[in-house]
Amino acid sequence: MPQVALIQLLQIAWLLSGLFVHLLVCYGGKLKIRKFYYVLAHDMHQRNKGMDVRPRMQWPTKKLSEEIEGWLRASGLTKSPHVRGVIAPHAGYSYSGRAAAYAFGNIDPTNITRVFLLGPSHHHYTPKCALSTATVYKTPIGDLPIDLEVIEELKASGKLELMDIIVDEAEHSMEMHLPYLAKVFEGHQVKVVPILVGALKAESEAMYGQFLAKYVDDPQNFFSVSSDFCHWGSRFKYMHYDKKHGAIHKSIEALDRMGMDIIETGNPDAFKQYLSEFNNTICGRHPISVFLHMLRNCPINIKINFLRYEQSSQCKTTRDSSVSYASAAAKVVIISPNDSDTAEMQSSSYIDILRPPPQTQHPPL
Ligand SMILES: *[C@@H]1O[C@H](CO)[C@@H](O)[C@H](O)[C@H]1NC(C)=O
Ligand SMILES: *[C@@H]1O[C@H](CO)[C@@H](O)[C@H](O)[C@H]1NC(C)=O
Ligand SMILES: *[C@@H]1O[C@H](CO)[C@@H](O)[C@H](O)[C@H]1NC(C)=O
Repeated sequence: MPQVALIQLLQIAWLLSGLFVHLLVCYGGKLKIRKFYYVLAHDMHQRNKGMDVRPRMQWPTKKLSEEIEGWLRASGLTKSPHVRGVIAPHAGYSYSGRAAAYAFGNIDPTNITRVFLLGPSHHHYTPKCALSTATVYKTPIGDLPIDLEVIEELKASGKLELMDIIVDEAEHSMEMHLPYLAKVFEGHQVKVVPILVGALKAESEAMYGQFLAKYVDDPQNFFSVSSDFCHWGSRFKYMHYDKKHGAIHKSIEALDRMGMDIIETGNPDAFKQYLSEFNNTICGRHPISVFLHMLRNCPINIKINFLRYEQSSQCKTTRDSSVSYASAAAKVVIISPNDSDTAEMQSSSYIDILRPPPQTQHPPL
C-alpha cells in the first residue's frame, strides 16, 4: 500500500511540475512578446479613476531608447522628407525590432504633424475599420497624443466604428509601432490617428482607401501600416511549400517576395489575387490593401519600396515554424529625371539578409 501511495504522490508531483512549466512558458512568452513594451494608457479612463497615467508595465526606458537608436543607426538609412508612409512589422522587438528600423529609419519628422496608424485586428472581429477612443498613447519614450479633431472628422463620416478600450489595449499591431514613432518624432509635436482595420471585404478595402486618400497628399500626414508577413508552420495552420525553391525557408521567402513585388506595383487587385491564390498568412493584408487603395486614389504618385526582409528563424522541417518581417517605405516619386531621390528609388533593391533565430521561443502572431 505505501508503494501505491508513493507512486500516486509522484504522479501528482509530476503533473504539478508540468503545470508549473506550462504556466512559466505561457506567462513568460506573454510578457516577453505580446506585452513586451506594453505602453497603452488612456487619459479619460485614468482621470475618471483619479489615477496617474502610466504604462502598465515598467520597462527600462533607457534600454529601449538605446536599442531603437542602435537599430536605426545600423540600418544606415538617410531620412527623406519624401517618405510619406511605411509598412513595418509588429512582433516583439527581440524578433522584428531590427527589421522595423528599415521602415522607421526613413522618416524625416521635420514637417510631419500627424501619423495615421493602420493596424490589423488580432482578437476582435469586425468587418469595418474602427477608431480609438483613447486620448493619448503612452510609451516609455514619450507620449503620443491622439488627434481628436481628425478622429471626430472620421467618426462623423459614419463609415468607421469605435473600438472598445479593451480591444484597443489588447491589440499589439499598432502598439508595437509606438515606441519607434515616439523615438523618431522625439522633440517634434506629432499626433496619432489609430485606425484598427478589420476583416474587410474587397469592396470595403476599396471604399476605405478612397475615403482616406484625401489625407495622403498633405505632406504633414504620415502613414504607419502594420503587418508581419508569412506565418508558417503547423501552429499557424499554414504550410505551403514549393520544393522548386529548395529548403522550406527559401520557399517561404519566394512566396513573401512575390507578395512584396506585387505590393510594390501598387495594384490592390493583383495583391488580392495573390492572396486568394497562395493564402499567404500576411496578418496586415487588410491594412496593406487599404493603403494600396489610398495611394491609387490620391493625386500624387507614391511608390512603395521594400528595404528589408527577415525571418524569425529558418524553417527546414515541417516541425519548424517561423514568421517573416518585411519593411517598406512609401515615397513620393519626383518627376525630375535628375532628382537624386528618384535615382535612389530606382536603384534600390532588397537587402538579402536572413538572420539566425534570435531565440528558440516562437514569435507571436
Ligand atoms: C518643410 O516645409 C517647408 C515649408 O513648406 C519647406 O521649405 C521645407 O523644405 C520642408 N522641409 C523638409 C525637410 O521637408
Ligand atoms: C488557397 O486556398 C484556396 C481556397 O481555399 C485553395 O483552393 C488553394 O489551393 C490554396 N492555395 C495554396 C497554395 O495553399
Ligand atoms: C539633367 O542632367 C543632364 C545630364 O547630366 C543635363 O544635361 C540636364 O541639363 C539636366 N536637367 C535638369 C533639368 O537639371
